[in-house]
Amino acid sequence: MTKVAGKVAFITGGGSGVGFGQASVFAAAGCKIAIADIRQDHLDQARKHLEDAGREVMAVKLDISDHKAYRRAADKVEKSLGPVQLLFNTAGVSQFGPIQNATREDWEWQINVNLWGMINGIQIFLPRMLERGDDCHIVNTASMSAFVSLARTGLYCTTKMAVRGLTECLSMDLENTKVHVSLLCPGAVNSNIHESVLTRPKHLEKTGYYGADPEVFSYLKKVIEVGMEPETLAKYVLKGVEDDALYILPYPEFREPLERIHARVMDALANPEDDPEYEKRVAHGVPGGKRK
Ligand SMILES: NC(=O)c1ccc[n+]([C@@H]2O[C@H](COP(=O)([O-])OP(=O)(O)OC[C@H]3O[C@@H](n4cnc5c(N)ncnc54)[C@H](O)[C@@H]3O)[C@@H](O)[C@H]2O)c1
Repeated sequence: MTKVAGKVAFITGGGSGVGFGQASVFAAAGCKIAIADIRQDHLDQARKHLEDAGREVMAVKLDISDHKAYRRAADKVEKSLGPVQLLFNTAGVSQFGPIQNATREDWEWQINVNLWGMINGIQIFLPRMLERGDDCHIVNTASMSAFVSLARTGLYCTTKMAVRGLTECLSMDLENTKVHVSLLCPGAVNSNIHESVLTRPKHLEKTGYYGADPEVFSYLKKVIEVGMEPETLAKYVLKGVEDDALYILPYPEFREPLERIHARVMDALANPEDDPEYEKRVAHGVPGGKRK
């Protein structure tokens, strides 16, 4: 998409952090912005900030894991601002600790928001985008956890790796259409993600981890407060959308871990000369590889 000015953008998690950065930068680039967020205080602050800067913004309270509510929010936004051409699947939550301590509710909450929330956005907006035939773009926010596994991040990492698979496959499925897709993988961002548990629904509150504990919050905040500022990150996203880039990976500190992980995987991969059935399997091409 060479020009974003005049486009309508729907940004989940637009009330804070990464999503708010996207709202600020794309509004400044001339987009009409809808921010959707589960936290009313985040929506109020974000709307005030954007309106004070003279931007056009619509704020919608939404739990993205609720498919019906999501559809109503999409209808409301399109009725008011016009067809959505930019979808930012940004809202996400995190809670850390060893997998063996997770309750079923811990899994459900993270999967419902980080994965189902994104699937809902795609299932609701994508058919409309394809039917209208406009130039459109979907930006899915994963994390470097989509590539790099770390102890005590298992639930989050599982959802972010799934987001990577979803996004890469979607970009292939949409190859001959006017809808482009990007995978955004931030490292640390100076956001409010340390407060994620405050958005956890009551029926999923049984946890094997921590609750709304100020000590945990301040520990987690210390890790992310040195992170990239959301607006800086969103400028990379703007460039990625303008260039129709599949991968938006603005964190050079992950070069070394990624090289190490890929080297380890290549090391573990069998060699053709050790496999007598190799030629038979690849005679008609290799899945994901070049055709012979
Ligand atoms: N902060 C980081 O270091 C970091 C690193 C990598 C990836 N990310 C990803 O960036 C995305 C945004 O996170 P952030 O860091 O800006 O956090 P944030 O908490 O500052 O912003 C996320 C927003 O999403 C909203 N939200 C949470 N659950 C929701 C739901 N069910 N429905 C609608 N809105 C909901 C929150 O209220 C919040 O306003 C997430 O997907 C996160 O995984 C963040």
